Amino acid sequence: MGLRVQRFGAWSQQGRTHTFRPLSISNPGSEQEAFMQSRRGRGAAVLVSVIGLMGCPMTPAASTADLGQQHYDNYCGPCHGEAAHGNPDIAAPAVAGLPVWYIEEQLHKFRQGSRGAHFDDAEGLRMRPMAMALRSENAVGEVAAYVAGLPPAKPASTFSADAANGAKLYATCAACHGENGAGNEQLHSPPLTGTHDWYLVSQLKKIKDGVRGSDPRDTWGATMVPMAMSLEDEKAMKDVVAHIQTLRR
Ligand code: HEC
Ligand code: HEC
Repeated sequence: MGLRVQRFGAWSQQGRTHTFRPLSISNPGSEQEAFMQSRRGRGAAVLVSVIGLMGCPMTPAASTADLGQQHYDNYCGPCHGEAAHGNPDIAAPAVAGLPVWYIEEQLHKFRQGSRGAHFDDAEGLRMRPMAMALRSENAVGEVAAYVAGLPPAKPASTFSADAANGAKLYATCAACHGENGAGNEQLHSPPLTGTHDWYLVSQLKKIKDGVRGSDPRDTWGATMVPMAMSLEDEKAMKDVVAHIQTLRR
């Protein structure tokens, strides 16, 4: 342990922002601490430490981007795919090219449990431990920067719906997500282009059903709840998403 701390100390003295904290994980007694104590968590912790030990003295030039890619390959690629274009078989969305601020925000929500902790959220429950396996705030930022830098997907539609009706419904959405679906950082509203139609519909359902966006800590998620409620049924959701599919960032 002493050696590890020394080496990690040297790591941060070289003037990089990255620091591993091998001895402290988070708040003692928290859910995250409990996870990291679990077998899987320990495995993840050891893996991160090994990467740190290998990368530290041998390759002092390891950049934030390299670290981001290492985290991605270890913890994210297996589900989201090498290009981060998603995997419909396991309901993992395309995340390539999402803005850093949104990826960080969502990873924090998953880590905190204000997203992906509801018992009806099978997919979120799959994602949450992966966000928690990132050992530090630095790691969250590094992986987010890496994912944000990947070229976005242009997934083909998986259903047909009334995009013209969707365009009318989208008038409300544009206030926050923008006419062209590019998102709005001030309003914490993500881009809606570059991801799969089935994923967008699934999120509208979750938000409407109180499975996402209803945790009291999720103040920005709450702004989306009445919007999902305003979509009467699945047809309306599919129509608006069919219109979103026609938008280009
Ligand atoms: C076990 C499979 C799995 C792994 C590994 C995984 N994810 Fe996910 N991820 C998912 C699923 C499934 C969802 C969709 C959750 C939902 O439906 O709400 C998701 C959702 C997300 C979202 C939300 C996208 C959005 O538009 O809101 C982000 C961001 C994300 N993942 C990033 C990551 C990162 C970064 C990693 C690595 C640290 C990672 N994921 C690892 C399965 C996974
Ligand atoms: C008042 C601002 C606002 C309006 C209007 C709004 N949204 Fe949102 N929307 C948000 C915010 C904020 C989020 C991010 C929620 C979070 O952080 O979990 C979001 C998230 C979403 C998501 C999830 C995206 C993802 O990658 O997981 C979808 C889908 C979505 N909105 C669609 C819509 C549609 C369709 C409409 C119109 C019916 C709409 N929004 C109107 C603020 C808004």
